[in-house]
Parts: sequence; structure tokens; C-alpha cells
Amino acid sequence: MGTFREERRGAVELWTLDAEDTRNAISRAVLAELEARVARVSGGQEVRVVILTGAGDKAFCAGADLKERATMSEAEVRAFLGGLRRTLRAIHTSGTIFIAAINGSALGGGTELALACDLRVAAPAAELGLTEVRLGIIPGGGGTQRLPRLIGPGRAKDLILTGRRVNAAEAFAIGLVQRLAPEGRLLDVSRALAEQIASNAPVAVAAAKRAIDRGLDLDVEAALALELEEYEAVLRSEDRLEGLKAFAEKRPPVWKGR
Ligand code: COA
Repeated sequence: MGTFREERRGAVELWTLDAEDTRNAISRAVLAELEARVARVSGGQEVRVVILTGAGDKAFCAGADLKERATMSEAEVRAFLGGLRRTLRAIHTSGTIFIAAINGSALGGGTELALACDLRVAAPAAELGLTEVRLGIIPGGGGTQRLPRLIGPGRAKDLILTGRRVNAAEAFAIGLVQRLAPEGRLLDVSRALAEQIASNAPVAVAAAKRAIDRGLDLDVEAALALELEEYEAVLRSEDRLEGLKAFAEKRPPVWKGR
């Protein structure tokens, strides 16, 4: 471990990718640490929300480490990509909620990392782009699939086929980021969002995330049936009863996460 800084406040953990000399690019070491971190929080109940950001004011994450990439064989690139896809999928399907706090450039794999998160908050200096076709490759960390699901196929093709970068305002306008933070307030805005989510019932938040994400890939009847299945799970939860009790007693609920 050593490429991320970590700070915990209550149930919210801030992970800062700290590799400024490569503009927080994803090297094999960064990827291995990220994968281990995601497994740790997903396997427990203590951390409800993770905020992912990048060190410095230049980049959130400049994508794959292109200096390292130049030294890698085709087989090694394939193995790296497998690890990236596995890790981003683990974020996407985790019961923990992930927020990307985009402090600067998020390019290629950097945008794919943000896309695997549940929500994206942008600083004024943020720029996002799936620039891969400019390098003779395509987005391989889920970008061709997660981007159109988020902003629609037309807008996704506009971005992926041109490889152009969008600034924070355009990213917000097309739904690529969900919040714009004023100058110097990125972490405040991200933390406020994280805390709002973390104050809600854990079982319910995880079930709602699953219902949304899994439902998107089903036809509407199957998706509505899935919603009902997830509702059944929360109906049987202790926290549902606590929610009702706390409401009646006019106090904040104390969630048990079951
Ligand atoms: N991998 C490895 N090193 C990277 C990198 C990457 N993806 N992106 C930037 N760096 C390195 C640069 O090579 C440079 O190293 P050097 O000081 O040894 O020359 C250092 O980070 C600073 O880069 P620089 O371009 O001068 O910084 P900047 O702040 O002006 O711009 C970016 C930052 C991220 C906008 C710019 O570096 C960039 O466009 N990088 C390419 C990102 C990309 O296309 N990723 C997609 C991969 S599919």
C-alpha cells in the first residue's frame, strides 16, 4: 500500500490517489492497491461511502500509466486490462457507494474510473474524456458500455468517436457529472453528498443501487420484477422497523445494517 492517502470520518472514507508525477495515472501498483481497497470496504459494513479523488489540482487520474505501458508486452497489457475491468466492476457492484470527486483531468481510464462510481462531483477545473481512439485503442475499462448507459448513445458516440475532452460545465449539462462544486469546495460538496447517503439505511441504499444498476440491463417488466424482489428484502429488514419507530418517536434512526 502507499499510492493512496486515506482519511476516515464516521462512515465516509476519502481516498486520495497520490501519484502527482504521473498525474495520478493507473500503474500496476496503483491498480493492485485499488483492488485490495475496494475488496476491503465491500467486504465490511463500516465504510458506507468512499470518496475517490486525485492529489494536486491538475489531474483526477490521467488514465493508464502510459510510461509503464510502453514497457509492457501485449500479454501484460491484456492482464492489466483484465485487472482494471475486474476492479471497476467491483466498484460498480459494491454495496458501498462510491463518489468520484473530480479535481482535474480525468482521461481514458480516469473517466472510466469515475464512470464506475455511483456519482460524480466536478471541480471547476475538471475535464473528462475518453481519449483512447486518439491513441489507437478503444476504452477497455467499461467506457463504451457505462458512458452510453449514463448519458445515452448519441452523446457517448460524440465523446468516444472524437476523443474530445469536456469541461465541468458541459459534463454537468450532459449528465456526465451530477454536481458541480464551486472553486475550492470540491471535498465539502462531496462530503455533504456522502454524508447524506451514509445517514440512510444501509440495506436500503445497497438494494436501491442494485435495483437501478441491474434493472438498466433488463426489459421494463423484468426490471420492475427485480425492484419488487429488492423491496421484499428491505421489507424483512430490521432497519425498516427502526425507520418507522424513529419517525414515530421524532428522533433520528439508529441503523443496524440488517
Ligand atoms: N501516464 C504516465 N505519465 C503521465 C500520464 C499518463 N497517463 N499523463 C501525464 N503523465 C506525466 C507526463 O508524462 C509528465 O511526466 P514528465 O514530467 O516526466 O514529462 C507529467 O505527468 C506531467 O504531464 P504534463 O502533460 O506536463 O501535465 P499537465 O498538468 O500539463 O497535463 C494531463 C495533465 C493529464 C492533461 C496530460 O498529461 C495528458 O493529457 N495526459 C495524457 C492522458 C491520456 O491521454 N490518458 C488516456 C490514456 S488511454
